Amino acid sequence: MSTYDLIVIGAGPGGYVCAIRAAQLGLKVACVEGRETLGGTCLNVGCIPSKALLHASHMLHETHENFEKMGLMGAHVEVDWAKMLGYKSETVGGNTKGIEFLFKKNKIDWLKGWASIEAAGKVKVGETVYETKNIVIASGSEPSTLKGVEVDNKAGIVVDSTGALELPKIPKSMVVIGAGVIGLELGSVYARLGADVTVVEFLDFITPGMDGEVQKQFQKILTKQGLKFVLGAAVSGVSTENGAAKVTYKLRKDDSEHTIDAEAVLVATGRRPYIAGLGLDTLGVEVTDRGFVKIDDHWQTSVKGIYAIGDAVPGPMLAHKAEDEGMAVAEVIAGKHGHVNYSVIPGVIYTTPEVASVGLTEEAAKEAGRKIKVGKFPFMGNARAKALFQADGFVKLIADAETDRVLGCHIIGPNAGEMIHEVCVAMEFGASAQDIALTCHAHPTCSEAVREAALACGGGAIHA
Ligand code: FAD
Ligand code: NAI
Repeated sequence: MSTYDLIVIGAGPGGYVCAIRAAQLGLKVACVEGRETLGGTCLNVGCIPSKALLHASHMLHETHENFEKMGLMGAHVEVDWAKMLGYKSETVGGNTKGIEFLFKKNKIDWLKGWASIEAAGKVKVGETVYETKNIVIASGSEPSTLKGVEVDNKAGIVVDSTGALELPKIPKSMVVIGAGVIGLELGSVYARLGADVTVVEFLDFITPGMDGEVQKQFQKILTKQGLKFVLGAAVSGVSTENGAAKVTYKLRKDDSEHTIDAEAVLVATGRRPYIAGLGLDTLGVEVTDRGFVKIDDHWQTSVKGIYAIGDAVPGPMLAHKAEDEGMAVAEVIAGKHGHVNYSVIPGVIYTTPEVASVGLTEEAAKEAGRKIKVGKFPFMGNARAKALFQADGFVKLIADAETDRVLGCHIIGPNAGEMIHEVCVAMEFGASAQDIALTCHAHPTCSEAVREAALACGGGAIHA
């Protein structure tokens, strides 16, 4: 029986990154993964396959909407769904194999199977119990269920995000339950592929937690793209008959009941931590009332030597947050200092245009009683965004009214998910809006809009 310094449970972005960093720091490491491939939710059924379908469907949208405007004529492109799914699977396969290679390179043992924790220092996989000085739980999350709605990904009618990544055919109509990140990304995919998509959302606005102005503009843009929204509506049930579905919902304002028929229904009402089968209750590892593993400032659970990271612990359910925690906890276990700056974790929605944010929203800053100034710049004043047919959005920079320190940024526009990082770096360095405004930005780039928003925090933007 091998003795390890560290056994990581789960090979998603939290777990595999933790294993690699720990091995780089000289620890003897194993990682347990029950799936047939490494990479977790993110690589197998999350970030990567969804972005492949977003890219392919965006290309199709460009040929239909914008090619002719640019003088590219006769581009009548048809969709071969099986081929598109093949491209998606190849993208996933290349990346999961890449992690296998990194495990070999860093001499990390992949223990194949489902793990349970017998005691601190003992991890059981199949019939074998492995000894280890430390354990990191990186077991991730799963789609949460909705009362009255039965998901059957195999049948391909009422599906969760995993089923929506491989529907048997492109449906003519789709109801998306939940206007969060998954619902809007995958809803966009099917709308661009020709489905009539209706998004039913419990709240009176989309993308809860985002900046209010971004929420409104984003909904306008998606509506222009053909998505329909029913807001303030609680879904109470979904029935299926003859290969189609009927979604029943109640409008919260007057309790009236309505139904929508659709060929497919995507249930995207959030995710919950996945810790089943680990044996945490017998070990005395404490969990929150929402089922997340409780941790201290060093990612240690209530049991010494057992740590937890990623979607299994409280905080945003994002791959890069899991990765950062994976690296940090590896450093802690190796006797160094691990650090995650939770106030600078960007969030991105990969629709077209993209939506990206970091730090405080205007609403959150005001609620916290902070005096702020807001610099806003519309992409209408940005030549590059106009050439890309993506000038509907804006950059909104939030800075402290007295010190000018950057507190947050919210972008809806082309490549917002790339642009947000200059603000992340600025925030990490404690920069002021003026620091961004004084930084030369290449022309013509969409990033110039970030500088203009910073200028708007001071003397005023040039092109607005
Ligand atoms: P996971 O990636 O869930 O990995 C956990 C792994 O642990 C799994 O492979 C599981 O099989 C394994 N495991 C669990 N229990 C055991 C056990 N007992 N024994 C052995 N193995 C076990 N985030 C982003 O930042 N950007 C995106 O664009 C993005 N897109 C997404 C799109 C979709 C459709 C979905 C569903 C999610 C998306 N996410 C995105 C969220 C992202 O996937 C998660 O935040 C991220 O995967 C969490 O990483 P993790 O390592 O904590 O867990
Ligand atoms: P979410 O929490 O983002 O959105 C769920 C939505 O469903 C909410 O708006 C909620 O109000 C609504 N809802 C809940 N119950 C409802 C009901 N009965 N009827 C109608 N609406 C209802 O969850 P989502 O989209 O499922 O995503 C899960 C997680 O995955 C998120 O935390 C996100 O961070 C992560 N993710 C991240 C991505 C990214 O970074 N680009 C992409 C996809 C997922």
